[in-house]
Amino acid sequence: MSGPAQPAAAPSGAPEATVRPIALGPLQLRTNLFLSPLAGYTNLPFRLTVRTLGGLDLCTTDLVNVRSLLRRNHGAMQLVATCAEDSPLAVQLFGAEPEEMRDGALMVEALGAASVDINMGCPVDKVVRTGSGSLLMTSHARAAQIVAAMASAVKIPVTAKMRLGWDAGALTAPDLARALEDAGAAAVFVHGRTREQGFSGRVNLAGIRAVVQAVRRIPVIGNGDITTCEAAKRMFDETGCTGISIGRGAFYNPWIFGQITRHLNHGEEPVHPGFEERVAVMSRHLDHMISFFGEDRGCRLFRKIGPWYAKQFGPTRYFRQRIHNFRSRAEFDELMHGYREWRRPFVDERGELLPRYAPDPLRSSFMVDEADDGSEGLPGAIAVPKGPVAAW
Ligand SMILES: Cc1cc2nc3c(=O)[nH]c(=O)nc-3n(C[C@H](O)[C@H](O)[C@H](O)COP(=O)(O)O)c2cc1C
Repeated sequence: MSGPAQPAAAPSGAPEATVRPIALGPLQLRTNLFLSPLAGYTNLPFRLTVRTLGGLDLCTTDLVNVRSLLRRNHGAMQLVATCAEDSPLAVQLFGAEPEEMRDGALMVEALGAASVDINMGCPVDKVVRTGSGSLLMTSHARAAQIVAAMASAVKIPVTAKMRLGWDAGALTAPDLARALEDAGAAAVFVHGRTREQGFSGRVNLAGIRAVVQAVRRIPVIGNGDITTCEAAKRMFDETGCTGISIGRGAFYNPWIFGQITRHLNHGEEPVHPGFEERVAVMSRHLDHMISFFGEDRGCRLFRKIGPWYAKQFGPTRYFRQRIHNFRSRAEFDELMHGYREWRRPFVDERGELLPRYAPDPLRSSFMVDEADDGSEGLPGAIAVPKGPVAAW
């Protein structure tokens, strides 16, 4: 059984917005910064890449269908695949039956995961139709039964990731979080949007604050739209959350965890890496993709990842024209060799962009972009479903 969660060990007098160790029930973590699951993106190759850049401890797998996992379906086993360098790892399960979720938690524990998370936020119809994902936010008794069944079966912490509620008329997250705490949850992760909102609008920090106020002891981890150090500070300051979790912002900027740590704890402004470091990290990411998926599939999947790294390279016409076709590590090396030659007129003797070609790190990569409604939002590089959420 997961023991009662202890409040995060904030040094006395420390401001809320600090990066510090945190406990999820019995699990001691080095930092209260988390990587949010992004199905199809935050796979083992990405997790390995971002972990080496520092500032991160617990990462989470993509959501895994508990039935598929219990049947040891190949796809599910690939989603939970991990290695020593990918530790500590939480496995996120979705399902609606307490017994299945209990068995899933036991299997996850036996596989060596540090914690098991329950998806209570996925808005996609395919998941909701099974009675799981965000539908659990409308049935506190069922959600609590699931947590209780899992928490009484395993020693690792059981956590839940939820949204604010089904829609604006049913902001159930505070009551749900309290019910899950009573049932044995060691922490809750809260994405500050409703199911109906999908990914539109801005994250509602007051909604997350209401969850923080509703629970008694367990940590609440705030999530949504954290793409800068300032947004991280705002999440801490305005919600009183104990930790923060970052999804899309980490894909646009894998250095974000280290930058936030240094900013919040030492007041340092983020130092954005130069070209050579970005290329080195991009190449490592490709290597991890190839070892995990094989050369052909790894390269094909990387065609949509390379362009994110390239957003900070400055002029990239040569790179962009070729990245969509490469099929092997050797072709990638050729591409990069050709690109370095092509890029020469734009750089100084150190290989760094001449100032007039330098991209604005806040505009063109991962940070601020104009959303449809004219507000600041996240650029659309990671496809999120659009239109009425019922049609997803
Ligand atoms: C492409 C994509 C896939 C996602 N997959 C999952 C998932 O598997 N499990 C989950 O709990 N949330 C998932 N989410 C939600 C994110 O974890 C996160 O709550 C949301 O993107 C808001 O945080 P962010 O603004 O930091 O990205 C996904 C989001 C996106 C955009």
